[in-house]
Amino acid sequence: MTQSPRVIDYEGSTYSTEFWTGAREYEDRAERIAIRAMLPPKGGRLIDIGAGAGRLGDLYLGYDEVILMDYARSTIVEARDRWGHDPRFKFVAADLYTLPFVEAAFDSIVMIRVIHHIVDVPRALHNIHAVMKPAGLFVFEFANKRNLKAIARYAARKQTWSPFDQKPIEFVELNFDFHPDWMKQQLRQVGFTIRQARSVSTFRASALKRLLGAKRLAAIDGVLQRPCAPLAISPSMFVLCSPALDKSRPQEEMLEGEVFACPTCRASLPAQPANDELRCANGHRWSTREGIYDFKTPLE
Ligand SMILES: C[S@@+](CC[C@H](N)C(=O)[O-])C[C@H]1O[C@@H](n2cnc3c(N)ncnc32)[C@H](O)[C@@H]1O
Repeated sequence: MTQSPRVIDYEGSTYSTEFWTGAREYEDRAERIAIRAMLPPKGGRLIDIGAGAGRLGDLYLGYDEVILMDYARSTIVEARDRWGHDPRFKFVAADLYTLPFVEAAFDSIVMIRVIHHIVDVPRALHNIHAVMKPAGLFVFEFANKRNLKAIARYAARKQTWSPFDQKPIEFVELNFDFHPDWMKQQLRQVGFTIRQARSVSTFRASALKRLLGAKRLAAIDGVLQRPCAPLAISPSMFVLCSPALDKSRPQEEMLEGEVFACPTCRASLPAQPANDELRCANGHRWSTREGIYDFKTPLE
């Protein structure tokens, strides 16, 4: 297993309760409009990568099987407390850099507000591409450095970095903004085709939220998401991607039911735990205690 790059630590964070308060109702609503427009409402197996406490879980209720995965075990415990009553949900603590899944495991993949924490974007996108079915869909959000506010601040010399420069900017440690052209190039390089783009949260300003209210502002955002996408001046961009058609194994050959692969040696793992653990053929053991599949540290 190759070493993971630096990873942000949300363990024990109050993100789910403090960030998503009333002040961000507009962003939450605008993101939901974009996801509903892009994600098929029904399907087989879906994963939300970097799902946090499962904020978006209600959007996945049309799926047969839903995996909520996050690096921070404490956020996945919150997700389990929220969605654990539904037997279709599974809760996984794991690192995006070493995904514990077999190839072509998922029909739909969602990743929202996560890539801005990722140092090695090509490696992360490559991993996602590998676990997606050939006919799968990937709903992906990234933070856009070429947004209107950044352009205005740069023009007024209140910001040193150029929003037009293609390179990602790490404006705070492990927080990156990306140029839309650069990100689209990364997606294409790992084999994704971009089917649709949306500009989201264009009106992220307290005065506008107060003036119009979150619901009305999000409705306007929703109408403009597609027509404004070519301009790409919103702080958040959503893209809908599918894998290029050259994925090696034809879909019929894939074993249905197989989901997990050992993150240490890539051997497949049984779908069901025994004695609160999953064990691979090479003897690596992973805890499934308390309803959390924990692929961060193997059991001794
Ligand atoms: C800003 S939160 C977003 C949570 C959720 N997607 C949402 O929109 O409400 C970012 C999440 O990404 C997770 N994350 C960051 N790096 C990760 C990695 N390498 N592997 C898995 N999750 C990661 C963090 O633990 C955190 O829960």
